[in-house]
Amino acid sequence: MMAKKTEDKIVYVDSKGKRLDGRKVEELRPIKIRAGVIPSADGSAYLEWGQNKVFAAVHGPRPCLPKHTASPYKAVIKFDYKMATFSVPDRKNPRPSRREIEISKVCGEALEKAIFVERFPNTEIVVIVAVIDSDAGSRIASLTAASVAMADAGIPMRDMVAGTGIGRAGGKMIVDLNKAEEDAPDAVDIPLAILPNSKEIVLLQMDGIMTKKEWEDVYPLGEKAIMQVYELQKNALKAKYAKNGVEEK
Ligand code: CDP
Repeated sequence: MMAKKTEDKIVYVDSKGKRLDGRKVEELRPIKIRAGVIPSADGSAYLEWGQNKVFAAVHGPRPCLPKHTASPYKAVIKFDYKMATFSVPDRKNPRPSRREIEISKVCGEALEKAIFVERFPNTEIVVIVAVIDSDAGSRIASLTAASVAMADAGIPMRDMVAGTGIGRAGGKMIVDLNKAEEDAPDAVDIPLAILPNSKEIVLLQMDGIMTKKEWEDVYPLGEKAIMQVYELQKNALKAKYAKNGVEEK
């Protein structure tokens, strides 16, 4: 385990088990999801996760262009994660960053695991995610929204993709780190996404180092939280189709 600074004045989890924003260690930030919010897309979703706000739009399956990017064996998932210039405290340069390219890649690969891509050779499924506001955890928020948008598009899926961040701040293992927690001196941030029914891990990245024991303590908390996210995804889809159109909250 990393020995970490003792000059920490910030208490990330207090003696009552409360975090800086009042959450318990295993508690998610408030999450709201709406399915079917962009009529021009084949499927779409809007998601708020704490301060994160994202739109996801799905187009396809459609003929894959340019053709050299097509596969005769499966649909190609083209995932585009994009941050608005105003989505971060400093203006974000609109040019695609290495970070956006990385996030697009890992999210696209994660989402592909849930889709029967082999049924749609020579096609592409384009997933565009626009991050409007962010406060850490935006890749998982994007993937969660994209999965709802994919289901909303009626694309055959073997499961949803749901996730959360897990990690450590101030020596404590916590679920769904916000930006202040991600910036803790001893922070470990692990974006995690699974297929909720099979529990297969489809995205796992790790910023920092933790012990095996810490991992074993925090993973079950993450999995439990992810099942809550999964329920919210299903509820968003049901809410749309219950009203046979775009639902109004
Ligand atoms: O958002 P996520 O946690 O998936 O990715 P990250 O690379 O760990 O970024 C954490 C947070 O840093 C983002 O959610 C943004 O709020 C913030 N950020 C920023 O302020 N400026 C950037 N150019 C990129 C990210």
